[in-house]
Amino acid sequence: MRGWLLRLRDLVRLLITGHAGRVWRVVSHRLYSNCSSIGLRRDLTVPFPAPAAKLPIVVRPLIAGDDLTFLDLTAPGLSDDQMFERLGQRRILRSGLETCYVAVTPDGGPYFMEWLVLASANDRVRAFFGNLYPRLRADEALLEGAYTVEAFRGQGIMASAMTQMAARAAEAGVRWVITFVDETYPPAMKASVRAGFQPYVRRVETYRLLRRRVAFIALDRIAS
Ligand SMILES: CC(C)(COP(=O)(O)OP(=O)(O)OC[C@H]1O[C@@H](n2cnc3c(N)ncnc32)[C@H](O)[C@@H]1OP(=O)(O)O)[C@@H](O)C(=O)NCCC(=O)NCCS
Repeated sequence: MRGWLLRLRDLVRLLITGHAGRVWRVVSHRLYSNCSSIGLRRDLTVPFPAPAAKLPIVVRPLIAGDDLTFLDLTAPGLSDDQMFERLGQRRILRSGLETCYVAVTPDGGPYFMEWLVLASANDRVRAFFGNLYPRLRADEALLEGAYTVEAFRGQGIMASAMTQMAARAAEAGVRWVITFVDETYPPAMKASVRAGFQPYVRRVETYRLLRRRVAFIALDRIAS
């Protein structure tokens, strides 16, 4: 199913499950909004020690049978944001985008999920996300869709997992790993910097009557 159809279906789901407030935020955002994200990147030829999380996690690709009940939409008492985040993760899962990694311990998890996307998936990224990401060059990979299971947030899992995923990208011949974080959401920015990523571009997104424009502005151009 195309990305916009999945989003529409999820909006209906939010509405009928009593999360009309979140629906209104999404709709008003798409009618008129200006927002920006920061793109960060890491040069994998520069060694970076993996920061330890409070849980000794290792990352591996998601496999059939992994317990994803942390994305359950019928869990009691979900807030608007929790429901919205879970729907978002499920949408990327359904898109078929590869490769979803999870962070686990020998006897538990997954505690975290995120996609490591190689240039071979450029067309799929474009089909699902539209023009939200720059087209990846052969030596680039994208980290997208970071999500830490709610009860395990604030334990350094994201930074540790990102560093381990970057090492997987290096094994696949990638030199640069990029990721985008919302400027108004400090946890993802803090974790990305802790994982050795450095800001290099600002993505400016504007919506006018459902039409989105996306522009990428190099941070060195802003500074000069
Ligand atoms: C963004 C996210 C993946 C971070 O995961 P995480 O494993 O908790 O990250 P970290 O443990 O490295 O925490 C990063 C920072 O956020 C803080 N933080 C994150 N979640 C927190 C929580 N629930 N309560 C308190 N602090 C929290 C941490 O304390 C840390 O700040 P510090 O350096 O000042 O201590 C997680 O918050 C999440 O899943 N959010 C919802 C999905 C989302 O927005 N993803 C971002 C896509 S770009």
